[in-house]
Amino acid sequence: MAKDYLDYNITQEKEIDTSRKLKVGIIGTGWIAGDHIRQYLKMPDVEVVAGADLIPGKAQAFFEENGLDGVRCYPDHKSMLDAETELDAVSVCTYNATHAECAIYALEKGVHVLLEKPMCVTTQEAVEIIRAERKSGKILSIGFQPRFDPNMIKLKEVVASGVLGQIHYIQTGGGRRRGIPTPFGTSFIQADTGVIGAMGDIGCYSLDMVLHAIGYPRPLTVSGYTSDFFGKNPAYYEVEGKPAEYANVFGVEDFAAGFIRLEGGIILDFRIAWAMNLDTPGDTILMGTKGSLRIPSTNCWNGSVGGPMKIYHEVAGSEVETEIPILPEGGDMNFYTKLRSFLDAVKEGGASPVPSSQILYNQAIIDGIIRSARLGREIEIEIPEI
Ligand SMILES: NC(=O)c1ccc[n+]([C@@H]2O[C@H](COP(=O)([O-])OP(=O)(O)OC[C@H]3O[C@@H](n4cnc5c(N)ncnc54)[C@H](O)[C@@H]3O)[C@@H](O)[C@H]2O)c1
Repeated sequence: MAKDYLDYNITQEKEIDTSRKLKVGIIGTGWIAGDHIRQYLKMPDVEVVAGADLIPGKAQAFFEENGLDGVRCYPDHKSMLDAETELDAVSVCTYNATHAECAIYALEKGVHVLLEKPMCVTTQEAVEIIRAERKSGKILSIGFQPRFDPNMIKLKEVVASGVLGQIHYIQTGGGRRRGIPTPFGTSFIQADTGVIGAMGDIGCYSLDMVLHAIGYPRPLTVSGYTSDFFGKNPAYYEVEGKPAEYANVFGVEDFAAGFIRLEGGIILDFRIAWAMNLDTPGDTILMGTKGSLRIPSTNCWNGSVGGPMKIYHEVAGSEVETEIPILPEGGDMNFYTKLRSFLDAVKEGGASPVPSSQILYNQAIIDGIIRSARLGREIEIEIPEI
């Protein structure tokens, strides 16, 4: 029987069947690819055989740095997928702008895909990826490792227990006081590579946290706002000791907010910041007819909770608060499980651990916020038939 993602909770060592080795490729050998290779190297049933990067020499250097000889390197995803006819799976670790083309091409070649988050940059791209997935019959999983964090699993269990009753209002988001990501370059902040900024980097996680907890209802309408006051300001980078020219290439949002109506009469109030003159724009809260849950925000959106979750409810006429003990964060184990659960689904023919059918709604909200912000009014979230 296929493993459920909850099976991966906490216990690290799972028996791995090494009778069949999986041939894996990595498309895009930048920052996050390092996390993928480190996890693949722990797995005795995985052979990383190929890699691709647009920057000449980057893929070769990447594999050498990670102690791998003989990995075949290519100048882009197409040449790799055309030449490597034995690949079982690929990690798509490119910047946001090329997620869709790489994922679709791999699926068309009959290769299973682990696609980094955000899924892509528009609703239309998400729809096209899902069409390719369905046509291919291959596994597509989206790289949301916080889902495997013990506290996130607990959140889903709290909601499933029914203690909150009918959830009707959710506030989520968060972000960083100062934290525009320009660690080794500018692919996160440029319009032609990142395309979406704070929402694609961390906003998609906070949306996933609450939407996954409540079963991913369809988004219906959104009133969105985006801004770039920090990213476009040269002084921001100077204070951080980074090139002031980053302000000229900054082409995405550093803050976004959205008021979203979801199917089932649920309201979602969302905001996310890469930079703000504030500690936090608020905790995550889920308000329900029987109880409400408060999830303390973290100071950077690191994929877990910022303190013990608390339920506010009424017991025998008394107003009571129940604290959910905080669990040790999954950390590196969350990344391991992201890859392992995908590969197990590939080997066992199981369901995708982080299915595109859910993340489509995540993407549609982000896309809706951007479109609504441009139009300056509330819009309907339209999702084409797949
Ligand atoms: N899950 C996480 O915790 C996490 C963390 C960081 C980044 N990410 C995601 O990973 C993605 C990559 O981020 P990064 O920081 O590694 O970016 P990066 O700029 O460091 O690396 C991306 C690489 O992809 C290459 N590339 C782009 N298109 C390509 C193509 N068609 N074929 C081959 N190579 C191609 C680029 O040349 C670049 O070297 C982003 O979408 C980001 O959101 C996820």
